[in-house]
Amino acid sequence: MPHAKPRLVVIDTDPGIDDAIGILLALSSPELSIAGITTVAGNIGIETTTRNAGRLLAFAGREDIPVFTGAAVPFSRPGPEPLNLHGEDGIGGVNLPAPARDPEARPAVEWLADLLLREEAGTVDVLALGPLTNLAQLVLEKPDAAKRIGRIVAMGGAVHERGNVGPRSEFNLWADPEAAATVVESGLPLVLIPLDVTRRVRASRDFTDAMSKSGKPAAAMVASLIESYFEAATHQESRPLHDPCVMLFALAPDLFRLEELRLSVDVGAAENAGALAIDENGSPVQVTLGVDAPAALDLLARQLIAI
Ligand code: RIB
Ligand code: CA
Repeated sequence: MPHAKPRLVVIDTDPGIDDAIGILLALSSPELSIAGITTVAGNIGIETTTRNAGRLLAFAGREDIPVFTGAAVPFSRPGPEPLNLHGEDGIGGVNLPAPARDPEARPAVEWLADLLLREEAGTVDVLALGPLTNLAQLVLEKPDAAKRIGRIVAMGGAVHERGNVGPRSEFNLWADPEAAATVVESGLPLVLIPLDVTRRVRASRDFTDAMSKSGKPAAAMVASLIESYFEAATHQESRPLHDPCVMLFALAPDLFRLEELRLSVDVGAAENAGALAIDENGSPVQVTLGVDAPAALDLLARQLIAI
């Protein structure tokens, strides 16, 4: 059967170790055609997330894919301190080359809006791996472009699961709650992939060993990234693959259980900032609440090793 036409995607990201794994998965997947990468501050500052995006593309020999610098700070509150989890370089100190080209001069949201207005409506998906500041800015400043998005698939939030930066707050939504609320309330086709799912897709040392021994550069680099993730949490037997779940959903949505929930985002300043609440007056959002984790991990391995 002839291959379906690759899906045109934009990756919005704060690389970040798990972002990097998701980006390498996307680069290893002919089913996805990456129009560009837009960066946002989050795991670490904007200069570093942007540089890391360029380093990953140089590693993959994909300097044809442009990188656009996005938001350096959240909408209306101070940005998060860099997460030690991702190391001083924001990407676990793994051996990546320098970027092969500079980021583009055009601001991320301007470029994204032009792309959406140029391409047929509904044909461009956004794979969002970090705080939602760029997407919120697009919704507010370029609504005619934003409504042409095919689908936003975003890693973020926690529904029945405990948070990772507060009792109920997950990092991406906590880092910029106002942006998260804007995107959730926008009515855009949004699939949210919360900690309820991403904590179940976990890489063990057996997985990294198999990737290392595959002889495939992308698989070996993913193994190095996960190993560095382990260094930040030596007591753990496995590490959650939060952001790669976005690409795994884009590649194989049937591996996930989707539910439509009416959600609101806590935009307060207390410990639940950014927390999701199921709210009958909230906005309808498609949320993954279940996953076939072994099949998802198997898909990750197959995509990385096939190339
Ligand atoms: O809570 C997990 C999210 O926060 C992931 O996107 C990870 O990269 C961090 O940004
Ligand atoms: Ca991220």
